[in-house]
Amino acid sequence: MLDRIEEIRKDAEQAIRACADPKALDLLRARYLGRGDGMLTEILRGIGTLDAALRPKVGEVAGRAKNEIAALLEEARARLDSRPEAAQAGFDTTLPGRRPALGRRHLLTQITDELVGIFERIGFSLADGPEVETEYHNFDALNTPADHPARDLHDTFYLEEGGLLLRTHTSTVQVRTMEQMPPPVRVISAGRCYRRDTPDATHHFVFHQIEGLWVDKGVTFGDLKGVIIYLAHQLFGEEVQVRFRPHFFPFTEPSAEYDFSCIFCKGEGCRVCKRTGWIEIAGAGMVDPAVFEAVGYDPEAVTGFAFGMGIDRLGMLKYGVDDIRAFLESDLRFIEQF
Ligand code: DAH
Repeated sequence: MLDRIEEIRKDAEQAIRACADPKALDLLRARYLGRGDGMLTEILRGIGTLDAALRPKVGEVAGRAKNEIAALLEEARARLDSRPEAAQAGFDTTLPGRRPALGRRHLLTQITDELVGIFERIGFSLADGPEVETEYHNFDALNTPADHPARDLHDTFYLEEGGLLLRTHTSTVQVRTMEQMPPPVRVISAGRCYRRDTPDATHHFVFHQIEGLWVDKGVTFGDLKGVIIYLAHQLFGEEVQVRFRPHFFPFTEPSAEYDFSCIFCKGEGCRVCKRTGWIEIAGAGMVDPAVFEAVGYDPEAVTGFAFGMGIDRLGMLKYGVDDIRAFLESDLRFIEQF
């Protein structure tokens, strides 16, 4: 009988110490000390039927076991009650937390904001224009005659409504701005442009440009160079070199394309710059007198320069993106990197 009591006591001690749930603890109390059929209760109740010589000893041992189990139950109750609230409610507070999903500006927006900021710091203000444009603003007013190859159907998305198209460049905003205000003008404009290109790693039928226009008395090509060199240094650092090459645009005369020294090989020659040490950035020039005439400015009174650049292209260079399509694909694995 004494062995049986010890067995019950040990069994109870183990179960109570391992218990992690208040409801299970109630069941353990019932199992060992329950009034009706608790294991120890039954033994204590049966003492009267034992041999008289055994009774005192069994009574003492069983009573002690009962007290011990009651104390263990008390202790376990206190332990469970002192857990943090969340744990009492059934949470495991040791699990790592879930990372909240943070919103962010798309990489293209970040680059655009950066470019706009660079120009705003030297006195340019932001201008805007529609993406659905008239042929007049996209071509005619920019001195691009009807037989110019850029007006070919293959380059331009024409809409069914007569004379409307999706703008092929942001130079349209030059025209709209000058139509709306007299000189001096110092604006930039950024936005979406469209051309009928088959998408590949460096082309897309939707792309983004930033356009600059500065018109005033006595603005020179030297001012243009100063602004572009300032841009190169702000974007890529003081060691970047800029070079201008003669070019042709219908809306500027003289016109130029400008290159930055390769930011990857520092002008040594590498795969990105095709071993030339230079990376073509964009076009620019002095506003053609014909454009001033189209918007009602006096070409004898003012001069100005304009430039236009691909934002996607600058972003690819600055952030090492090797496929222009990534900007438009909304792939979270790409977007979340920036
Ligand atoms: N609009 C030209 C293009 O899309 C870029 C450009 C060149 C803009 C020269 C200008 C400029 O303002 O002066 O290719």
